[in-house]
Amino acid sequence: MERRAADYRRDAERLLAMQRLSWEINFAGRGFREASFRMSLRAGIDHGDVFVYEEAGQMVGWLWLDRYDAGIIHIRHIQVEREHWGTGIGRRIMEDAIATAVSEGRHTVTLNVTKSNARAMHLYQSLGFRVIADEGERQRMKLDVARVPARVGRHRHRDVDGSEEGR
Ligand SMILES: CC(C)(COP(=O)(O)OP(=O)(O)OC[C@H]1O[C@@H](n2cnc3c(N)ncnc32)[C@H](O)[C@@H]1OP(=O)(O)O)[C@@H](O)C(=O)NCCC(=O)NCCS
Repeated sequence: MERRAADYRRDAERLLAMQRLSWEINFAGRGFREASFRMSLRAGIDHGDVFVYEEAGQMVGWLWLDRYDAGIIHIRHIQVEREHWGTGIGRRIMEDAIATAVSEGRHTVTLNVTKSNARAMHLYQSLGFRVIADEGERQRMKLDVARVPARVGRHRHRDVDGSEEGR
């Protein structure tokens, strides 16, 4: 699976169609505002926060990050093409998001999830996300990744005599 930055002209219509399906799953019965989505998507793409995942040149999923806080990456949206659900792509995209947070030196990954979305809930819990706020139908979850970069740093800076910097 390959990741690339999303391109508005190339990807917007496909992402819009996928987002409509996600909206039905997570916000059934509530109006989807296409103009608002398009505007936000364009801004997200312009900021380099939207990624497309492809296999053999075909889009299989996408990811939208918010980097509004220096220490936090918020997963604004993750989605896998319906025909590929249950094949582990969602897990791999989540792991890529977490790896991105680690590589950028952030301490926390957050997301919001609709409680009735059992597949997403299972995925996030199995990756170690914990509930930090109950908002009725939805809840906010977080994963603390602060220890991961610290461990990587100790290995990288280990001296030849075996002592470790930064302990
Ligand atoms: C949520 C989503 C990204 C998961 O993608 P996916 O590729 O199916 O995920 P994976 O195959 O990696 O893993 C799904 C996990 O849920 C489990 N699962 C599948 N169906 C399930 C169900 N009905 N209830 C609970 N768990 C379920 C799978 O067994 C798997 O867990 P495992 O790895 O421990 O076996 C995908 O369903 C999706 O795009 N949904 C629509 C958009 C959406 O709702 N996004 C989340 C917004 S918060």
